[in-house]
Amino acid sequence: MLRVESVDAYYGLSHVLQGVSLTVGPGEAVALLGRNGAGKTTTLKTIMAVVRARRGRITWNGDDITALAPYRIVQAGIAGPVLLSSLGPGFTAAFQMVTLAGPQ
Ligand SMILES: Nc1ncnc2c1ncn2[C@@H]1O[C@H](COP(=O)(O)OP(=O)(O)OP(=O)(O)O)[C@@H](O)[C@H]1O
Ligand SMILES: [Mg+2]
Repeated sequence: MLRVESVDAYYGLSHVLQGVSLTVGPGEAVALLGRNGAGKTTTLKTIMAVVRARRGRITWNGDDITALAPYRIVQAGIAGPVLLSSLGPGFTAAFQMVTLAGPQ
């Protein structure tokens, strides 16, 4: 069970996520819907700790993962292709996934 509770996240001073909460249960598929710029990708990046949550809590099967490094979150069993568009077209998907999973 993934639980996101009242999460806020920023890019610099830009307050992008404001009180985001959602849960994903075992075997459940959850779609995030919203207009361009609504914060869908930022929500995924915050779950993966690529963007840090400044408020709120994220738990995975009851464990608080809010402050973990991205590679620890992958080790815990959560993965997402959230960096696939961020590192540039010169990188292969495999390279980018390894980069996400590797030690910081
Ligand atoms: N690296 C960044 N630095 C600063 N602002 C950003 C950055 N990435 C996204 N933003 C801004 O954060 C807000 C949320 O963007 P985000 O990419 O999460 O939206 P989205 O819902 O995924 O949009 P889309 O449907 O276009 O993929 C937007 O206002 C966007 O301009
Ligand atoms: Mg997006």
